[in-house]
Amino acid sequence: MNLRLSRRVQRVSLSANAAAKSRATELREAGRDILDLTTGEPDFDTPEHIKQAAYAAIAAGATKYTPTPGVKALRLAVQRKLQRENRLDYPLAGIVIANGAKQIIFNAFAATLDDGDEVLVPTPYWPSFPDSVRFNGGEPVFIECELDQGCKLSAEQLQQHIGERTRWLILNGPGNPSGAVYSVAELQAIAAVLRRHPQVLILLDELYEHIRFDGQPAHSLLNVAPDLQARCLLVGGVSKTYAMTGWRIGFGAGPQVLTAAMAVVQSQSTSGASSVVQAAALAAFDGGLDFLPEQLAAYHRRRDLLVNALRDIDGLEVLEPQGGFFVFVRCAGLLGRYRPDGVRLNNDADVVAYLLDEGVAAVAGSAYGLSPWFRLSIATATGSVAEAGRRIAHACRQLRGAA
Ligand SMILES: Cc1ncc(COP(=O)(O)O)c(C=O)c1O
Repeated sequence: MNLRLSRRVQRVSLSANAAAKSRATELREAGRDILDLTTGEPDFDTPEHIKQAAYAAIAAGATKYTPTPGVKALRLAVQRKLQRENRLDYPLAGIVIANGAKQIIFNAFAATLDDGDEVLVPTPYWPSFPDSVRFNGGEPVFIECELDQGCKLSAEQLQQHIGERTRWLILNGPGNPSGAVYSVAELQAIAAVLRRHPQVLILLDELYEHIRFDGQPAHSLLNVAPDLQARCLLVGGVSKTYAMTGWRIGFGAGPQVLTAAMAVVQSQSTSGASSVVQAAALAAFDGGLDFLPEQLAAYHRRRDLLVNALRDIDGLEVLEPQGGFFVFVRCAGLLGRYRPDGVRLNNDADVVAYLLDEGVAAVAGSAYGLSPWFRLSIATATGSVAEAGRRIAHACRQLRGAA
């Protein structure tokens, strides 16, 4: 049968991350010694009090359909969290819950984009940003943010790329894959441009807000420019902070017209998120962050280990991440060199294939819209991170010079 797929689904692809991870898993299962640094998934377990809340919810019979925008008690907990941790006030109707931050982002684009509408996507980007835009009929407009600007969007670039069809700007900090965190001054400059373009909505993805290495409290465009709140959708969740990637809960906080429309989209896809998981997420938001310093110290140690191991390698340039789960490495200096088996490295996919042969699984920068780079996850055991640094150094030393 000639099964015809929709044009819409053909505009997007399976995540390159997932592909890199399954390749690493395949090789491991075949007995190869591979260190998997592909995924942004905490190697810590979900804290016990959160699991207990889920068990208790099941025992209490919280097993029925939930309201589409989320259980009221959880939305109240998110409202308190935003006041306490982010110094932001939202009415309850401005808070919506979904099955992960990813669904929040999807719902927002589904609710606002018409065919041909443009969304500004600074590169490097988390791959679901452009694909979610494409799936919903929009056109991602990429803005390349290179190493010399810390992989961060500048106000000047923003000004140059805003056009008549621009509906959204995406700002992600700490960034995936860059680990970049925008300073107050950088956010002020961006806010000044946005004030001149009142038609542009702003998607603030702050999922990694608590994974910061500078000891500073989380700050957002909204703290710097509260006047933009009516145009911002703040996206957060439990996946990264609470090591709850598999539970699937995210939230959005924004203007009520938008959050209501997002709930309409969700009502025709998944309906309200799981009753049990919402009870667990409530315990997460209300339960404090006492467990976090220990995890942060581990991420910090791994970041330093990896950055120090890669910093002095001829051919690599490392962007020291200020937060998040990744170290993003520019590898332009390796291109044109030859592997011991005589194969020439022509692009970042070749570099990543070589590293995989040398026992380290990474993801090529092309997956994030910026080449030639590769991404390494520090959300993996400290010993593996240290060994990965050694293997990459060894692999680079084995290369023979440019022809
Ligand atoms: C920047 C960014 N936003 C959103 C998500 C999705 O998070 P969730 O697990 O809550 O859907 C991820 C996950 O990797 C991410 O890196």
